[in-house]
Amino acid sequence: MDPYQSPDSQSDEAIGAMTTRLEDRGTNEDFQEMISDYLFGIPQDEAVSVLDLGCGTGVVTRRLEEHLSQDSRLVGADISERFLKAAAEFSESDFIRWERVPEGRLPYEDESYDFVILHTVMSHVPDPVATLAEAGRVLKRGGRLIVFDADYASTTYGYPDFEKMREIDHKLLAAVAANLDVCRQMPRYLVAAGLVMEGHEGYLISEAGEGDFWLSSVQGFAKLIPALGILPPKEGEAWVNHMLRSHDEGTFFAASSYYTFVASKAGGDLRQAEI
Ligand SMILES: C[S@@+](CC[C@H](N)C(=O)[O-])C[C@H]1O[C@@H](n2cnc3c(N)ncnc32)[C@H](O)[C@@H]1O
Repeated sequence: MDPYQSPDSQSDEAIGAMTTRLEDRGTNEDFQEMISDYLFGIPQDEAVSVLDLGCGTGVVTRRLEEHLSQDSRLVGADISERFLKAAAEFSESDFIRWERVPEGRLPYEDESYDFVILHTVMSHVPDPVATLAEAGRVLKRGGRLIVFDADYASTTYGYPDFEKMREIDHKLLAAVAANLDVCRQMPRYLVAAGLVMEGHEGYLISEAGEGDFWLSSVQGFAKLIPALGILPPKEGEAWVNHMLRSHDEGTFFAASSYYTFVASKAGGDLRQAEI
C-alpha cells in the first residue's frame, strides 16, 4: 500500500526516509521553479486565503508564506500528525496554521478558500475524484485549484538491462504512489469532480551524468526498499549500488515528467490565472 496514504502507521525508518526526500527535493532548483510558476498566479499584494492540502513537511507552505501578503490566511493541512509535527519544526512561523484533517470531508465551510493547492498529493489518494470534489467544495467561486503532480508512469532510472529497468521502475514507483497515471487522467477527473480545467503546464526533470534531484530519490529508495519490502534484498542492493556507482562514474540517468493543472468552479469571475 502507498505509504503516503497512511504515513503515521509507517516505521520510523520509512517516515524518516520520506521526510528527508520531501525536504531534499524541495531544495532542488528545477523543483522550485515548477512551484514558482504556479505561485506566479497567486496575488502577492492583496489578502487571499490559501489551503495547502496534503502539505507534508511544509515545503510548498513555506514558499507560500514568503509569497503571500501578511494579511493573507495560510493553512497547511495533512492527514499525518507526524508530517505536521515535522512541518512545524521546519518552520518558525506563526503565520502558517498547521491543521490535521481527516481523509474525506474537510473541516472547512463551503467556498472558504481563494486557492487550494494539491502538490504531489493526487498521485497518492485512494479516490482522486472524491479528493478533487472535496477540494472544489471548499474553493470559492472565482478561486483556483492548483494540482501539481509527477507523471510517475513516465519516471525512469537508467539501468543496463532495459526489461529489468522497466520491471524495477514499475515496482519502485507502484510501491510509493497509488496512482501512477494520475496526470494522464486529470482532465477526466477534473470534469468528473465538477471542475473546469483552465490550463496546464508540463515539465521534465532529467539528470544525465550525475544525479541531484534523482540521487536523493535513490538514497530514499535505499531505505524504503528494505523498509517496505519493495524488491528482493539482493536485487534491491544491486539496483541501489548501480545507481550510486553510476552517479560516481558520471553515467547516471533518471527522469520524469511533471504537470501543473489549474482548475476553477464553473460560474465565477476568475482571479489571476496564468501559470
Ligand atoms: C508526497 S507527500 C507531498 C507533501 C507536500 N505536498 C510536498 O510536496 O512536499 C503527500 C502528502 O499527502 C498527504 N495525504 C495523503 N492523503 C491525503 C488526504 N486524503 N488528504 C490530505 N493529505 C493527504 C500525505 O500525508 C503526505 O503528506
